Amino acid sequence: MHYLAIKGKQKLSGSVTISGAKNAALPLLTLSLLSKNPITIDNVPEVADVKTLLQLLSNLGASSTCKDNVVKIDSTTVNSTCANYDIVRKMRASILTLGPLLTRFGHCEVSLPGGCAIGQRPIDLHLKALEQMGADIEIAQGYVIAKAPKGLKGATIIFDKVTVTGSENIIMAAALAHGKTTLVNVAKEPEVVQVCEILANAGVNIEGIGTSKLIIEGSGGKLLDIKDFTVIPDRIEAGTYLCAGAITKSKITLKKVNPKHLEAVILKLEQMGFKIDEKEDSLTLHPAEKILPSDIETSEYPGFPTDLQAQFMALCTQAKGTSIIDERLFENRFMHVSELLRMGAGIKLKGHSATVEGKAKLNAADVMATDLRASSALILAALVAEGTTRIHRIYHLDRGYENLEGKFSALGAHIERLEE
Ligand code: EPZ
Repeated sequence: MHYLAIKGKQKLSGSVTISGAKNAALPLLTLSLLSKNPITIDNVPEVADVKTLLQLLSNLGASSTCKDNVVKIDSTTVNSTCANYDIVRKMRASILTLGPLLTRFGHCEVSLPGGCAIGQRPIDLHLKALEQMGADIEIAQGYVIAKAPKGLKGATIIFDKVTVTGSENIIMAAALAHGKTTLVNVAKEPEVVQVCEILANAGVNIEGIGTSKLIIEGSGGKLLDIKDFTVIPDRIEAGTYLCAGAITKSKITLKKVNPKHLEAVILKLEQMGFKIDEKEDSLTLHPAEKILPSDIETSEYPGFPTDLQAQFMALCTQAKGTSIIDERLFENRFMHVSELLRMGAGIKLKGHSATVEGKAKLNAADVMATDLRASSALILAALVAEGTTRIHRIYHLDRGYENLEGKFSALGAHIERLEE
């Protein structure tokens, strides 16, 4: 096991190149199951979750190579429909094989993902939608056993809640279904939009891309001619580095980023006193004279992303005044709070709301990563703490941040990965 040692009170400078979006790459890899030909995907982040999913697809019979952020994958050779527990438990996004496997093969057995640190993470909306498309769904021995021997039928589906992977699963299922599927209250995250765009480029007739209502004409079971493509930039990684520059009062530039995907985040940083220069694919953050407190409420895109809530909480500890942070999407996404408290932050929790008193003097400590984004909040706090902080269980970070130490070191941070 490794840990990160980060020396605090270190200014950052220079630029960082943002990787491809993990949360786009994952559904786009399972989308390869719908392809009648091998595909090449560029700008794939080489992170643990992607490696895990490639392993799962290979267990199903696909073959792939991954080099220099380019994945070549051939899922035409898939000959198994069972996504088993030992992989799915490592990465809940494996549930993204459910829709593609079922719509292509007419049956599949996918292990239930189980909960995770941030919440129970049910998949009831995925299953309900597939049943509306004619699937027979049974839960047995911790697996979803799905059957649709004659293929899935188009249906009109209204999601009770906006669900990102639920939307992606059903969009992919509908792409090969028989007839038209209308999806209402579908997620509008850029990652969902890219899934739709790749399907549309393959000839699937999709109306309403980027809106909360999609109409998808299925291919009736015929595999698709998926064209090669490039994964969109990771807006959450970008937001994390913006917070790193902000909390250390540094001027830094982000390259290969899509500013349009970060509107809510940029607005929030400007409200907190930071100036941000936008170019077509880069952002330059200028330090705030004084970091102002902010009220944040997470919501679905294009609202403020829940995946940046922890990072902004770390930043708010350095704002002068009281910030209120409401986490509206997940019931337990404050795991970073106890660790930030141990570093000297002033945070009080009440239900899904956190009150952050600043400006707090943070001190180095031994802290524990609990989930991907909470872990990155601890890095941000460590960058401004007095002394050297050690962050343990950093396998959480490796799931979603490519070359993390390399990128932070290049910005001037003193960060080392050491053996426990
Ligand atoms: C995706 O998770 C992301 N993961 C998460 O990022 C992100 O936090 C989340 O969307 C919200 O933006 C991937 O894209 C791989 P949801 P997902 O279904 O799809 C409830 C990260 O750090 N819900 O949109 O699992 C659910 O409990 C990860 O990269 C149901 O009730 O999230 C939650 O309260 C963490 N029933 C809300 O909806 C369902 O069937 C939103 O969940 C599905 C979801």
